Amino acid sequence: MVGSAIARRLAADGYSRLILRRRAELDLTRQAAVEEFFARERPEYVFLAAAKVGGILANSTRPAEFIADNLAIQSNVIDAAYRNGAKKLLFLGSSCIYPKFAPQPIHEESLLEGALEPTNQWYAIAKIAGLKMAQAYRAQYGFSTIALMPTNLYGPGDNFSLVDSHVLPALIRKCHEAKLANAPAVEVWGTGTPRREFLHVDDLADACAFLMREYSDEAPLNVGWGEDVSIAELAHLIAETVGFKGELRFDRSKPDGPPRKLLDTSRLTALGWQPKITLKSGLAATYEWFSAHQAHLRR
Ligand SMILES: NC(=O)c1ccc[n+]([C@@H]2O[C@H](COP(=O)([O-])OP(=O)(O)OC[C@H]3O[C@@H](n4cnc5c(N)ncnc54)[C@H](OP(=O)(O)O)[C@@H]3O)[C@@H](O)[C@H]2O)c1
Repeated sequence: MVGSAIARRLAADGYSRLILRRRAELDLTRQAAVEEFFARERPEYVFLAAAKVGGILANSTRPAEFIADNLAIQSNVIDAAYRNGAKKLLFLGSSCIYPKFAPQPIHEESLLEGALEPTNQWYAIAKIAGLKMAQAYRAQYGFSTIALMPTNLYGPGDNFSLVDSHVLPALIRKCHEAKLANAPAVEVWGTGTPRREFLHVDDLADACAFLMREYSDEAPLNVGWGEDVSIAELAHLIAETVGFKGELRFDRSKPDGPPRKLLDTSRLTALGWQPKITLKSGLAATYEWFSAHQAHLRR
């Protein structure tokens, strides 16, 4: 989702020498393949958008993949980019790396100030290591690395699987299928009370392009919308967008995750960047994309 959005943004901005690889063409966990790729292509600006990504269920049932794949991907890419003369590298962390009970809204300084949310600790530890590795390469080698911490993302290219997706795409799919089947209800995981922030992926891509041009510092930057909604509010908004008129049933036996996750984006906005796509319009556009791409969705 993010890699495609960054590629769309850069192409729209007129950059024509984009070097893109799908996983089937280059497995970033394989060190020799990554070294060979960087030595051959020698990219100047590197956006590292690949990672093992998933929701609560995927994180808690496949912890080894979440920690091992992410550590390998980022170590291989950061090191090979530096050794092959890249001018700059952008690393994507995540709001999941902050402590479970970090003061809200979460400031970048909260990193490592408390215990992590246990359900995604494997992913979080790997991402924290990636952020630290980027800072270490800057400190020791002068390699211009920057790290962004995006909030929950959504948009075209999202993963609509019911097993390893995030809450927003999972609810779009559930409401859509319930509408088609005339089902009386849709199940929503958890109590509906946790609050989450959502950013359209095209806004994140815009921030990535802006910061690759304008920012070079070891301090990580949060990227978010600036306001949050409860999962219940999100579910109702999605049902309305999709046109599902049945009941939303909250399954309290499923985990909630942290009670609230809203990022403090004042560092980023002080640099002159603001997101533009509201949740309502972003959801409408995402549902339109979902409806038009039924045959090619990631399920
Ligand atoms: N989605 C969010 O809400 C969110 C929030 C905060 C931060 N982020 C960060 O943003 C970045 C992109 O996330 P996303 O939402 O775009 O996830 P995504 O849609 O799942 O994209 C990740 C991409 O990485 C690829 N990949 C995974 N393992 C790979 C490997 N070993 N070699 C090469 N490619 C590999 C995946 O390929 P396959 O599909 O073939 O596996 C997929 O194309 C990640 O760093 C993530 O941590 C995402």
